[in-house]
Amino acid sequence: MQRVKATIVEHERVQPAMWRMAFRWDARARGLRAARFLMLGFPGKTDPLLPRPFSISDVRDDGDGVVSEILYKPMGKATQLMTDLRVGDAVSVLGLLGNGFPDPAPGKRPVLLAGGIGNAPFAHHVRELLDGPFRERPSDVVLFLAGRTASEIWIQPWVRASGITIVETTDDGTRGEKGRITEALARRLPSLGAIEGFACGPTPMLRALKAMAVEHGFPCHLSTEELMACGYGVCNACVVEDANRPGTWIKSCHEGPVFECREIIP
Ligand SMILES: Cc1cc2nc3c(=O)[nH]c(=O)nc-3n(C[C@H](O)[C@H](O)[C@H](O)COP(=O)(O)OP(=O)(O)OC[C@H]3O[C@@H](n4cnc5c(N)ncnc54)[C@H](O)[C@@H]3O)c2cc1C
Ligand code: FES
Repeated sequence: MQRVKATIVEHERVQPAMWRMAFRWDARARGLRAARFLMLGFPGKTDPLLPRPFSISDVRDDGDGVVSEILYKPMGKATQLMTDLRVGDAVSVLGLLGNGFPDPAPGKRPVLLAGGIGNAPFAHHVRELLDGPFRERPSDVVLFLAGRTASEIWIQPWVRASGITIVETTDDGTRGEKGRITEALARRLPSLGAIEGFACGPTPMLRALKAMAVEHGFPCHLSTEELMACGYGVCNACVVEDANRPGTWIKSCHEGPVFECREIIP
């Protein structure tokens, strides 16, 4: 696998603390699955020196070729620097890395659970489901979008128009239902039937979803977001605790970042 340069073709702020960046690089040709990720670097910059991991959010053909898209939230040095990049600038890309979400088991309703910038992998996830087993019944796919406040809620407009079921929640009630994503899910569990959860978001949310999945007996796959330095198994920066062997650690870049919730202690 080679690190290559990719030219930014679209870059916009979609919410006060959320940006969408698209660059000419074909994630599909590199085995894309929702929640697989790339390591993004900044040619010519020495600070930050290390690349950073981002999920592929969406991939499409813009008429001139394939572009891959990420969503990001400015957090620290790298993501602040990214907000200054312009269309035509180059980023360096290594990937795709990691495993990605599995296909839902036959007979299970996929419930996608996004907290804040954890929305990133789900546009492509919806595309996979609607290109596959849910083509004729998009409303069976349920996407929960949760944030602390209204400005943390966003998803690509085509996803809203796709016919899937979307539930929005905010902690402060400024958009959608007031309260936590777990509360909104708990209210719907009796009517959703046999579900399979797919979640990405802050660690406390993943922890709460694991507790719910264990209590109610449904499978739930967590996309973890540990800090990473290499992205491919050599540095040990990204470990998560093995639930079956407490005190031992699993490299989330190599064996994850997606784990069935019973496999790890998030
Ligand atoms: C597999 C994977 C996929 C990811 N996908 C996305 C994505 O699609 N969009 C996106 O915005 N981010 C994503 N992230 C997180 C992203 O990589 C970090 O936000 C980024 O590395 C921060 O770099 P920075 O230099 O801006 O911040 P830093 O200077 O490295 O850190 C700034 C602050 O943020 C904290 N921080 C950094 N990373 C994380 C984290 N993962 N969780 C909690 N706190 C953190 C640091 O502790 C520090 O306090 C992903 C992470 C992983 C592992
Ligand atoms: S990030 Fe280096 S081992 Fe996972």
